Order: sequence, then structure tokens, then C-alpha cells
Amino acid sequence: MTERLVFPDGFAWGAATSAYQIEGAVAEDGRGRSIWDTFSHVPGNTHHGDNGDIACDHYHRLQSDVDLMGKLGLGAYRFSIAWPRIQPEGKGPINQSGLDHYRRLVDTLRAHDIEPLVTLYHWDLPQGLQDSGGWVQRDTAYRFEDYARVVTEALGDGVDRWITLNEPWCSAFLGYGAGAHAPGLSEIGTAVLAAHHLLLSHGLAARAIVETSPRPAEIGIALNLAPVSPASDSPDDLAAAQRVHDQQNAWFLDPVLRGSYPRELLAEYVRLVGDEFVHEGDLEVIGSARPFVGVNYYMPLRVAAAGMGRGATRASSFGTWLGIEHRARPDLPLSGSGWAIDPAGLFELLVRLRNDYGSVPLYITENGAAFFDYVDPNGAVQDIERIEYLRGHLAAAHAAIANGVDLRGYFVWSVYDNFEWAHGYAQRFGLVFTDFRTQQRILKASAYWYRDVIAANALEI
Ligand code: FCB
Repeated sequence: MTERLVFPDGFAWGAATSAYQIEGAVAEDGRGRSIWDTFSHVPGNTHHGDNGDIACDHYHRLQSDVDLMGKLGLGAYRFSIAWPRIQPEGKGPINQSGLDHYRRLVDTLRAHDIEPLVTLYHWDLPQGLQDSGGWVQRDTAYRFEDYARVVTEALGDGVDRWITLNEPWCSAFLGYGAGAHAPGLSEIGTAVLAAHHLLLSHGLAARAIVETSPRPAEIGIALNLAPVSPASDSPDDLAAAQRVHDQQNAWFLDPVLRGSYPRELLAEYVRLVGDEFVHEGDLEVIGSARPFVGVNYYMPLRVAAAGMGRGATRASSFGTWLGIEHRARPDLPLSGSGWAIDPAGLFELLVRLRNDYGSVPLYITENGAAFFDYVDPNGAVQDIERIEYLRGHLAAAHAAIANGVDLRGYFVWSVYDNFEWAHGYAQRFGLVFTDFRTQQRILKASAYWYRDVIAANALEI
């Protein structure tokens, strides 16, 4: 028997991308270098040595790509602005052709009745700022505030919804802690400083947008959140799960929604780097924006207690530092990237957010999966697994709404296959297949399926 799950009127149906993952044209029209240009060109940093020099060549294909989004029936499109296109050095002179590019994008989207959801920072810090320390330097937060003002002045009359940062946990802890992302540094202490400066930059930029936008703007922050469960109900495992929850979720949610840091973890961080990094007034700046929360959900985490090893400072031993070990979930199927697939985890996460923080407006700003997609002899891409994945997660989202969660929209990651960071072009997350040799785009079966869901504003299960 099929059941029909109808979504609320005005629910935003979208899909997402980010600048470095799709644009290419890295040396054109005055764009400066970003930390991802540098990082991806260092041998060994990415799968196959892949980089974003060309990616989906979206920069040159703006019109046809937006036409494609029209075919998908998207009501909203989440994209990011490349800071080095706007300020090649990250501060100082503004590059008008960068602003013109995104103006054209916003106007083209509007002409298709697609709402832009604009992310200001999706990991591509101008290399010039990294050369003076990047997010480890407090000054970078103020440079981000300037940049936010410049962009809002230029685009604010066409944009109603902004996201300051994408996944600051990844920027800080994968970029400065684990060395897995640009800029490729690996010291936990610097990652802690980076995380605080990123949060500060969120508060400063949110204020700048409010002050500069010619129309009332909704402002959010997109966080990679995960429900964390203990491997057993022993007190040690419960405590380990709490530490991971604090480190990954609460460290970002608490300051943004409550104006404070989780106390125990703050004490640990202070032991590591001293207490000077949080200045008086910082938490007020961070906590005063009252943003919507963009939930990027991919998988749940399960952890067990391991020997406490707070002496470790390199993030290759980050789990050791936290005194935890990650555990596999043999009870759950895996996606093509080996990530556990668990729609129930999304429901749990959304309900917990509401229970812990009250009724905060939420969007799912990323959800999706990589599978081993290929073009079959008939020229089609039958990504049945992705349809099942999306169906399951949308049903979970619907159940959360039915439970009173203020969820306002859903964005599939991603519109099309693109440069998947350290995994290069090996992981395909798109609704649309990208042939990276010819730049041909082929709608996968999931794209047609999603189009029908959007048109019906409802899901058949
Ligand atoms: C998220 C990133 C996004 C994409 C997906 C798969 O962490 O925000 O850019 O890489 O993972």
C-alpha cells in the first residue's frame, strides 16, 4: 500500500553545490587563489591528484546549468560564493567581475523562479589570508565581516536567505586539525583557535548582513551534525558519546543558539591553548544573530570509550585525545563512500535539536549519498539506491515536521557530480551525472523522481 506524505505549503525544495566543487575557471576574471587550489595541487593530498581547476566548468555554463535546475523543478538552489573571486587577496581591493558573475547567477535563478540560498564561505579561503595564518588568526574573522558586507551590498536586493559558513567543524578540525582538508595542518590546538574564529566570523558577518541588506534577510549557519550513540550503556561509553556530541555538535550549536560554550569541553580546550582566545563580548556577538540552522546530515556516529590520551595534540590521534574510538554500524547499509545509511538518525537529530534548543527554524541544507553511478548502454543512469536513500530521508524529515519540528526546506547534496574534496572525482553525489571529459550532464533516475516529488509537494512511500 502506498502512503502519501504531504509537505507544508511553502516548503523549500532545493539542491546544493559549492563554488570550488563546481566552478573551475580558477584563474579567470581576476580570481585569486584559495587554500583549496594550493592544497589540491600538492601530490598525495587528493585522490588521483584531482583538483578543481575545471571541475564542472560551471563558471562558463551558468545559463545552461540554471536551465537544468529549471528542468529539475527546483524551488531553491544553495550555492556558495568564492571569496577569492570577490577579494583576490581576501582583503582590500574588490574584483567587480567576481560580483558580476554572482549577480548574473542570482538574476538567472530568479528568472527561473528559483530562490537563491547563498553561502558566503564553503571552505575556499583566499590563500593570501592563509599566508598570514588563516582562521588561526582572529583578524580573519574581521576580514570575513568586510567581505560579507561587500557581497550583501552587491547582491542583497536579490537574496532573502544567507548562510554565513558551511560546516565550520570541517574547516577547523579537518583543515587545521586532521590535515585532511585545506590548508592541511594538523595540530588540535590551532584547530580549536580556528573553530572559535570561524564562529566569531559567523556572528560578525550575520550582523553585517542585517545592517547592509536592503530587505529583511533570513540568516543561517550550516553545520555538519550527527546523532551520537554509545557502543554500550556502560558509563564510560556514555561519557565518550557525550564528548563527541559536545565536540562536533554542541561546540557549534551552543554558542550560536545560546551564547555559551559547552563547559567541560571548554575547560579541556583551555587546558590545551589557554583562555585568551575567547575575548570578552565574543559570545555575545556569536549568539546574537538568532539564525536558522542548516542541518547537513549524512550519517550517525557510534563511539566507545578508549584510553584517555589528552597528551596527544596531533589530530591523527584526535580520537585518542578525546578518549574515544569510532565503531562501525554493521546493522546499517553503506553508501558508495562507505557511510552508514540511517534515515532514522535524521529524525532523531531533528527532534533532539528541537528538544535541546527549542523551536529554531531549520533547513536540511545537505543530505545525499555517493553511489557507483554509471551510464548504462541505453544512455541512462539508474540510481535506484539514491532514490531509496532520498525517499527514506524525506520520510524522516516529514515525520519530524509531524512531531512539531520547524523544518522549512530540504536541499539534496548535490545538483550534479562534482569535485568531492580529498576524494576528487571518485565520489558521485549528483542528481545529475557529470561526464567530466565532455562536461555532458545526464539526469539520473533520481533527478526525475525528485522533480515529481517537488511538483507534488508530497512523497509516496
Ligand atoms: C559535506 C560538504 C559538501 C560535500 C558533502 C558530501 O561535508 O559540505 O561540500 O562535500 O559533504
